[in-house]
Amino acid sequence: MINGNTRLFAIVADPIAQVRTPQVLNAYFEARALDAVLVPVHVAPEGLAAVVEGFRRTRNLDGFIVTVPHKTAVAALCDALGPAAQATGSVNTVRRDPDGRLVGDMFDGAGFVQGLRTQGHDPAGRRCLLLGAGGAAGAIAFSLAQAGAAQVVVANRTRAKADAVVQRVRQAFPQADIQAGDADPQGYDVVVNATSLGMKPDDPLPLAIDRLQPHTLVAEIIMKPELTPLLAQAQAHGCPVHFGRHMLDEQVRLMARFMLRD
Ligand code: ATR
Repeated sequence: MINGNTRLFAIVADPIAQVRTPQVLNAYFEARALDAVLVPVHVAPEGLAAVVEGFRRTRNLDGFIVTVPHKTAVAALCDALGPAAQATGSVNTVRRDPDGRLVGDMFDGAGFVQGLRTQGHDPAGRRCLLLGAGGAAGAIAFSLAQAGAAQVVVANRTRAKADAVVQRVRQAFPQADIQAGDADPQGYDVVVNATSLGMKPDDPLPLAIDRLQPHTLVAEIIMKPELTPLLAQAQAHGCPVHFGRHMLDEQVRLMARFMLRD
């Protein structure tokens, strides 16, 4: 039961109805017997700064989750950013310290890498091909480099965006072997689809299946459908596959622990 001692958390988004974070994080709080609640807050871009300022002054609020379209704008409203948020220019979780200081970080990439590890696929020392260069891909590139991947190649339809991701990761990890390249999956240990191709049933595949070698792990970050056409065809080709939900599961844990200072 919510009472006067309950700690508050929020998710800000526009639109808001599709978000699943309230169910997932309230279940997380309940499972740990925490007197805390997370509520959806529908904020349009023009109202974002005022709402964030309101959060800053709300003394029983300990943090908030940020999603579309606010991830970049919130980064500029924070007082401090963690390394992944700095490298990606984007924030998906904010912790409010007791003095009102807002600290933002980005857990998309860390969630993805932790999800790989929980399934027994540590990317350390692996050659990785990352398809896509949007917000999620940028965070994953950072985390693959941080995790010690032997090589990261970023392949994107718009080459300039792949180059920009590479530049930002190199700034954070000057020793990392990261470059922009093409989407040919031959010769990689891990291939990650971080494009939006696969969300709609008639999307083309993001890579040529017949160029996959059977030892290559094919990973998705798309949650629905769980078995995307890419994963189904990769599996039929003999490749191990990795589902999008592993990233979300780990991301939720990382976001909650960050806000709870756990
Ligand atoms: P997210 O925040 O989920 O990463 P995003 O920033 O919109 O979403 O990025 C979507 C990614 O899918 C981009 O890499 C995009 O390629 P472009 O940078 O060239 O736009 C990629 N993508 C989307 N539709 C695509 C298509 N039809 N073919 C190839 N790549 C596509």
